[in-house]
This record gives sequence, structure tokens and C-alpha cells, in this order.
Amino acid sequence: MSIQRGRHFLQIPGPTNVPDRVLRALNRPTVDHRGPEFARLTRDLLEGLQQVCKTSGKIVIYPSSGTGAWEAAVVNTLSPGDKVLMFETGHFATMWRNLAVRLGLQVDFVPGDWRRGVDPAVVETQLAEDRGRAIKAIMVVHNETSTGVVSRVSEVRKAIDRVGHPALFMVDSISSLALTDYRHDEWGIDVTVGSSQKGLMLPPGLGFNAIGEKALATSKSARLPRSYWDWEAMMNANQTGFFPYTPSTNLLYGLKEAIEMIREEGLEKIFARHNRLAEATRRAVRAWGLEVNCLNPQEYSNSVTAVRAPEGQNADALRKLILERFNMSLGNGLGKLQGKVFRIGHMGDFNELMLAGTLSGVEMGLALAGAPFKKGGVQAAIDYLAGNE
Ligand SMILES: Cc1ncc(COP(=O)(O)O)c(C=O)c1O
Repeated sequence: MSIQRGRHFLQIPGPTNVPDRVLRALNRPTVDHRGPEFARLTRDLLEGLQQVCKTSGKIVIYPSSGTGAWEAAVVNTLSPGDKVLMFETGHFATMWRNLAVRLGLQVDFVPGDWRRGVDPAVVETQLAEDRGRAIKAIMVVHNETSTGVVSRVSEVRKAIDRVGHPALFMVDSISSLALTDYRHDEWGIDVTVGSSQKGLMLPPGLGFNAIGEKALATSKSARLPRSYWDWEAMMNANQTGFFPYTPSTNLLYGLKEAIEMIREEGLEKIFARHNRLAEATRRAVRAWGLEVNCLNPQEYSNSVTAVRAPEGQNADALRKLILERFNMSLGNGLGKLQGKVFRIGHMGDFNELMLAGTLSGVEMGLALAGAPFKKGGVQAAIDYLAGNE
């Protein structure tokens, strides 16, 4: 393998680049996770994540990936055979569906084309038809990392309310949290599922749930077996600042630093920064004569742009070439989109010059691959960035 100098460009849509400040925080000596210093840290973190999720409700943090936090949301609130409503918005929605099926739930999976988000009108119709109120939960992926499409969660909430349906509303906010406007309390979310490796700018390894009152009440009678994921055991231990088992001590130091960085910049400014970088990316894609996978401009993602490969090109071959020649990793097409799209991650600790470098790598890669495209994507992006605050 040839030796590559300079910093690797990690432009996959998570895990994202970890800021040096967070890396230094991770690098502290481990402390006693049953000692007083640790108890203070736990309390700070729970409060910090409440702010990020915009909730005054409970937070639980697991030493897990995001998939663990999905499972926690399901096993704490539902019972064997319960019916749930889910939407095929992409790979992660499909994975969450598979998890629910394996856990013994009956899933109504509304088909989708992996280019659009959840349609609030379809939610309304489905729930209106459920006269017996058999549906116990509606589960939506906010930002589909596989497709670059955002579902309009607040509109889905309004659709649920129009029908007056009592189902729980659970949202995967893994690649939208601290990246795109998200309001757990205001939007009436019952369970938010999150993880560390996207907008929180940490390595993978922390999964969490934000839990509303209704979900908490439902968890008292939910009958799916649970042990490791049990909210009650976690919340009881958290009351004194501790965990029922060994927490990811050093990742939690990193989380404290990341939350500090988020507070310094402010959530609204973070959303605006991502919005601008995402728009610049889409302008580059269009200037290349390529297609953004997301069809509805109202559903564009702040965190990732999935680009449809030019006619006759395999997206994975293009990614391989870009990695080998320019030391940059782009996201691959997942599931049904394998080989058909490449994904540009533009989230987390990320700025204009990093984007300009990223887009330059893509443009050079397209040229070297002999792909049918037009030059000028980088120019279109930097013109936009230079002209728009
Ligand atoms: C939207 C979304 N949900 C769930 C997951 C699964 O999380 P993990 O791979 O951390 O288990 C991911 C991972 O990228 C994701 O992007």
C-alpha cells in the first residue's frame, strides 16, 4: 500500500471527525466510576443532553452503539405481539424494523422509494383506519443517513394529533441531533434515540434515550423482556450519579467536552452552519450535472448528501479511487442503494475549507474515473459560501 501523508479526510456520515479538544478530554486518566467526581460528571451530562434534545424529561446513557438505544426504546415500552407502524425511508428504518420483528413485534411497514421522507398524510390515514387503536407505537427515523432525507417529524406529530391516536411516537435522531432542528418536548416525542458518533462529535460507543412522561408510564406495564436496557435500573442508579454497570468512563469525559463545545456555539448557529454547508454541497452536485438522491427540497439533510452515481458508473468504484488517490473516505450506498449512490458526510466538527477539500476530492475523482460530469462543482460551492454568511 502506498504511504499517504497529510490528514485523512473522513467524510463518511458518521462516525465523524472528533475535535482535538474532545480527543484530549478522552485521553484523561480513568477515574473511579463509583467515586464522587464521577457522580458530578453524570449529573452534568444528563443535564447537557436534556439541552441538546430540548427536553426537561429523563435521559439514559448506555455504553452501546445507536442500535442498542433502538432496542432500549422498544423493550422498555412495548409488549410481545404489539403492533407498531414504521416507514421504509431507507436502510436504517429497515434495520429498526428488522430489530422490532426479531423482538416479537408485529410491524406495519409502509413501503417507500428511499428518496422521500415519511409522508404525514399517510401517517394520518393509517392511524385513522386503526379504529381499534391496535397500533402501540409509531417509529420514525428523523434523518435517514442512508438516503440524505429528513422526515418532517413535527408534521408527523401534528398528523398523529389530528387523529387523536394514543400510540407512542419514537424518533431516531441519531444523525439529526445537534445538526438539525430537533425538539423532543415541543414536538411531543415520547422516546428519542441518539448516539455519540454524529453531531455529538465523539467516537462510537454511547447510545441514549430521551424519555417523555407517557413513555415512562407505559414502561411500567410493558412486558418485553429487558435487563441490560432496563430504564428503571438505569434511572435509579443515575439518581445518585452512578450506573447499574460499568459506564464508558472516558467517552463520558469526551461527551462533557462536546456538550461544552455545543453550548459555546449554540444549537441554532450549529443548525445554520450545517444548513449552509449542505446547500453548498448540493450546489456542487447540481453543477456537476449529478442528482441529489433526496427528491423533496423540504426534506434535504443538513448532515449528509447522497449523490446518485453518474449513468454507467459504480459509486463504490469511484469511492475506492478517491480513497486510494486522495486519502478521503466517502460513505457507501447501503442496502438498496449499494453501488448507486455515494454519500458525502458534512456534519460535526466541519467547516468551509474542509468542505472545499472534500468537494475537490470528489471532482478530481469524477475526472479520473472518466465519469460523464461537468466541471465547476467546487466553484459553485465556493461561490455560494463566499456570498452567503
Ligand atoms: C439514522 C441511524 N440510525 C441508526 C444507526 C445505527 O447506529 P449504530 O451503527 O451506532 O448502531 C445509524 C448508524 O449510522 C444511523 O445513521
